[in-house]
Amino acid sequence: MKNTVQTLKRIAVCVVVATIGVTATASPQVLAPEKAIRARQAAYFLMGMQMARINATVKGDVPFDKSTMQISVEALDLIGRMVTDNFPPGSDQGTTKAKPEVWKEAPRFKQLALESQSEAAKLKAAVHAGDMSTIKAAYGATSKSCKACHDTFKAQ
Ligand code: HEC
Repeated sequence: MKNTVQTLKRIAVCVVVATIGVTATASPQVLAPEKAIRARQAAYFLMGMQMARINATVKGDVPFDKSTMQISVEALDLIGRMVTDNFPPGSDQGTTKAKPEVWKEAPRFKQLALESQSEAAKLKAAVHAGDMSTIKAAYGATSKSCKACHDTFKAQ
């Protein structure tokens, strides 16, 4: 009986330790590779759409409308910060244009992602401020930051 109680206590301790372990390392949910590919492609597709909308205004095809632009830059900023969670190991296989370098040169990939996020944050600030020449410059820098990553990490 004593042994049983001790065993139960040990199990309880193990469960607590395991639970704490899970909580301590709580990171974004890791998706199965095929789902991760869908998630990141959808995310980038939406980011591309926002950039196209902003570009139309920057080029003068569409008049500046602050509330529409704000939605685009909010989306760009938010999605840009979420998308990098969707490159789990194994998701280099399948219907993806992500090159193997994403995983082989992970620190560089991460760095370019952070740089792009920082440019998108500046673009967001520029839109909030509402000055068109600042928006243009920030749009150009953001666009360059997308291309910088695509040049190395995305197949054509
Ligand atoms: C850190 C690297 C990186 C940055 C920064 C980046 N991308 Fe990408 N992008 C990728 C990779 C990798 C793929 C391929 C994803 C796949 O097919 O699994 C991709 C795919 C895309 C696609 C194709 C999506 C589809 O329909 O499958 C678009 C559009 C796109 N990116 C737009 C952008 C825009 C706009 C930005 C900047 C605001 C940007 N990306 C920033 C790495 C990046």
